[in-house]
Amino acid sequence: MANPGAIMFFHLLISIFMLSLSLSKCTAIENDDRKEYIVYMGSLPEDGLYSPTANHISLLQGVLQGSNIEKSLVRSYKRSFNGFAAKLTDTEKQKIAEMKGVISVFPNRNYQLHTTRSWDFIGLNEITKRNLTIESDIIMGVLDTGVWPESHSFSDEGFGPPPKKWKGACKGGSDFKCNKKIIGARNYAVNETARDIDGHGSHTASTAAGNHVNGISFFGIAEGTAKGGVPSARLAVYKVCSAVDCPSSSILAAFDDAIADGVDIISISLGFNSLLHYDEDPIAIGAFHGLKKGVLTINSAGNGGPTVASIKSLAPWMMTVAASSTDRQIISKVVLGNGKTLVGNTVNSFTLNGTSFPLIYGKAAANNFCAAEDASACICINDTAVKGKILLCDFLFETDSFNHGVGIINKKVVSPDTPFVDPVPSSGLRVEDYDVVKSYFNSTENPHGLILKSEVIKDSTAPRVASFSSRGSNLLTPDILKPDITAPGVDILAAYSPLVSPSSYSYDARRVNYSIVSGTSMACPHVAGAAAYVKSFHPDWSPSALKSSLMTTASAMDIIESLNQNEYGFGAGHINPVEAIDPGLVYESFEEDYINFLCGIGYTKEKIKLVSGENSTCPKVSPQPKDLNYPSLSHQVIQSNGSFTIDFHRRVKNVGIANSTYRVKVISNNNILDVKVVPEVLSFKSLNEEKTFNVTVKGDQVLGAGTTASSSIVWSDGTHSVKSPIVILFSI
Ligand SMILES: *[C@@H]1O[C@H](CO)[C@@H](O)[C@H](O)[C@H]1NC(C)=O
Ligand SMILES: *[C@@H]1O[C@H](CO)[C@@H](O)[C@H](O)[C@H]1NC(C)=O
Ligand SMILES: *[C@@H]1O[C@H](CO)[C@@H](O)[C@H](O)[C@H]1NC(C)=O
Ligand SMILES: *[C@@H]1O[C@H](CO)[C@@H](O)[C@H](O)[C@H]1NC(C)=O
Ligand SMILES: *[C@@H]1O[C@H](CO)[C@@H](O)[C@H](O)[C@H]1NC(C)=O
Ligand SMILES: *[C@@H]1O[C@H](CO)[C@@H](O)[C@H](O)[C@H]1NC(C)=O
Ligand SMILES: *[C@@H]1O[C@H](CO)[C@@H](O)[C@H](O)[C@H]1NC(C)=O
Ligand SMILES: *[C@@H]1O[C@H](CO)[C@@H](O)[C@H](O)[C@H]1NC(C)=O
Ligand SMILES: *[C@@H]1O[C@H](CO)[C@@H](O)[C@H](O)[C@H]1NC(C)=O
Ligand SMILES: *[C@@H]1O[C@H](CO)[C@@H](O)[C@H](O)[C@H]1NC(C)=O
Repeated sequence: MANPGAIMFFHLLISIFMLSLSLSKCTAIENDDRKEYIVYMGSLPEDGLYSPTANHISLLQGVLQGSNIEKSLVRSYKRSFNGFAAKLTDTEKQKIAEMKGVISVFPNRNYQLHTTRSWDFIGLNEITKRNLTIESDIIMGVLDTGVWPESHSFSDEGFGPPPKKWKGACKGGSDFKCNKKIIGARNYAVNETARDIDGHGSHTASTAAGNHVNGISFFGIAEGTAKGGVPSARLAVYKVCSAVDCPSSSILAAFDDAIADGVDIISISLGFNSLLHYDEDPIAIGAFHGLKKGVLTINSAGNGGPTVASIKSLAPWMMTVAASSTDRQIISKVVLGNGKTLVGNTVNSFTLNGTSFPLIYGKAAANNFCAAEDASACICINDTAVKGKILLCDFLFETDSFNHGVGIINKKVVSPDTPFVDPVPSSGLRVEDYDVVKSYFNSTENPHGLILKSEVIKDSTAPRVASFSSRGSNLLTPDILKPDITAPGVDILAAYSPLVSPSSYSYDARRVNYSIVSGTSMACPHVAGAAAYVKSFHPDWSPSALKSSLMTTASAMDIIESLNQNEYGFGAGHINPVEAIDPGLVYESFEEDYINFLCGIGYTKEKIKLVSGENSTCPKVSPQPKDLNYPSLSHQVIQSNGSFTIDFHRRVKNVGIANSTYRVKVISNNNILDVKVVPEVLSFKSLNEEKTFNVTVKGDQVLGAGTTASSSIVWSDGTHSVKSPIVILFSI
């Protein structure tokens, strides 16, 4: 298989670094040289006599050499779109790729897993208005590691029977009982059930749609009420990640089922770590077929930041979510023997009872087999040497065992802004603070110190885009701005699986029902919950109208270049669900617009026909990607031209007040872009009336390759503000 290193602990950036090294498993390869591929065939033909499975078998029969169908065919997709997963040799794969009706054939890749003050922070609190009747008819589909069904967050107390539109099933396995909250469960992992043995899925599902649960904390830290965005909504759980991997074939199977089961919103906090074209990415494919049925898919941006162009969630028909901080910051202080106190970023639930312990430097505590650089990073520790001492480590928290030591003070090089749960008493310090500890250590004969249990402080700089959150530009289609929006994803307290330790280290014996986790994985269900909340006021709105309402009402964020915090970090801004229920105007796009978009980026007529499943074909002149009716405006300018003029075409629909007049305002972030909007006034006489306008962006200088210049336009009628960012990317 393509993914021997596949493991489940990827929700922390740090884990991606370490555990993938230490816990890599080599799964056995099939006994012949067949690999698993996905054969994607687009929409299901409308012909009532067409049998997808029979067709898949007959396709396979045409190419298989020396293997039988039963051994080859892994899975058929036949409920929401057409295709199958099969084990094929290289030759068989080539042959299938050339067959009529096949859009793409791609390897079964392994995806990676990329809470509750946060809802209050974004304005959804106990007194927010809600329509509970409609909210309880909304079904949130979560594609993840399953859930822990007994968690109080998933209790069905007070819930009525499932909504009538529900067509799904409870097939979570023998140890998984559904209820009136979790109305559906499916498992795609061999020899497992939909029960969450990782923690990630319970966390995301409860963040999106968990019940109110009072008095929750992490060992007394961050105490409060745990709740999801839509506590009255229903959950449908699709376990696509097994204990070892999250294969494309399972992700596609879950989309195939979820759409046909009748979910309203899909939340998927997973991603692949390299760039995939839209027709090879199961999340983009699944989301496209969801869109055709009115289902909006929300996907995490990924944890590849702050590197630019690290974002891999790119399809314009889904919503991509970055992660940012909330005003609740968790710190873990260090008190040195000389009385100096330093503030670290770690979730430390342990108390040393106010006792100070001797400090020992990594090099002095290394075992005899340790290379020098590994020793200072504490990678190989001598248990005898650290006994009764606090260890100083020059790198990440990275020890795979810690037997007799008291605790660890480490230099936090990666993600210094994000406190993670460590398995032992610890404090992760920024470089400059760690140096203070080191010089104290150097300057005294018996250095000693104390690590305090974590406390919560108010962070008035929030929201800030987390350093780990993947950044644009969009390497596939630079004219579509990604991410779309940012939401809380740092230190989110939510439901967990009591089968695993909250730090994901196997030697950590703690077990919890609620844990603190960070990642764009945690931001994604915040937007899914917010989209469901908006839908509960507008059940008939299209996926693009829901997405537009969340984007155009998002709160502005500061541009801070030193943090890589600009539109490539936060998209349209910080989510504001209460504003989003009344956006005034929406930018809508439908299947035909996305088809034209695919035409514009070079998809052939044949592929387009299969994808859309209708007689649709490309227009004579395909629109440019920048002219997709998107709620943000973006274009790549080739640098060799000293000056530039770009036209954007947009269409808005009035969903605010019937008789209303909107005037445009341009908010400039610099003096590079000269933005003109024609017309400057849009007058509406009725609801659902549509108006078009053009935006011309001019500049007489270009900036360095890879840099951007931005502005915003805001349509306002005195009540509503409809804001869209404009981002111009300069490239060679
Ligand atoms: C909820 O929505 C339904 C259907 O639109 C409406 O009949 C009902 O009055 C609403 N309830 C509240 C509390 O707004
Ligand atoms: C599933 O369990 C069966 C029976 O215990 C075993 O033979 C098989 O190898 C397992 N499959 C996987 C993929 O672990
Ligand atoms: C702190 O005190 C508690 C309660 O007396 C005890 O269980 C724990 O082991 C102590 N911790 C340390 C590091 O001494
Ligand atoms: C650990 O340290 C002790 C004493 O300092 C030493 O005797 C022993 O050999 C060391 N063990 C290893 C594995 O390095
Ligand atoms: C501490 O001392 C070591 C060796 O004497 C030296 O390499 C290091 O730079 C010193 N560190 C600080 C922060 O003073
Ligand atoms: C987790 O929940 C279970 C069942 O509700 C309860 O028995 C257990 O004590 C809880 N564990 C913790 C650590 O709170
Ligand atoms: C596609 O075109 C054919 C021939 O023009 C027509 O018979 C068929 O009904 C069309 N199908 C759809 C779904 O529009
Ligand atoms: C660059 O200039 C050429 C020639 O004037 C023009 O055709 C092209 O569209 C310009 N490209 C961009 C990206 O502005
Ligand atoms: C719409 O607005 C115009 C101008 O503000 C006003 O003259 C007209 O009476 C309004 N029509 C309705 C139906 O409210
Ligand atoms: C916008 O531009 C298009 C094409 O350049 C033009 O046909 C249209 O009339 C313009 N719309 C407005 C409102 O100016």
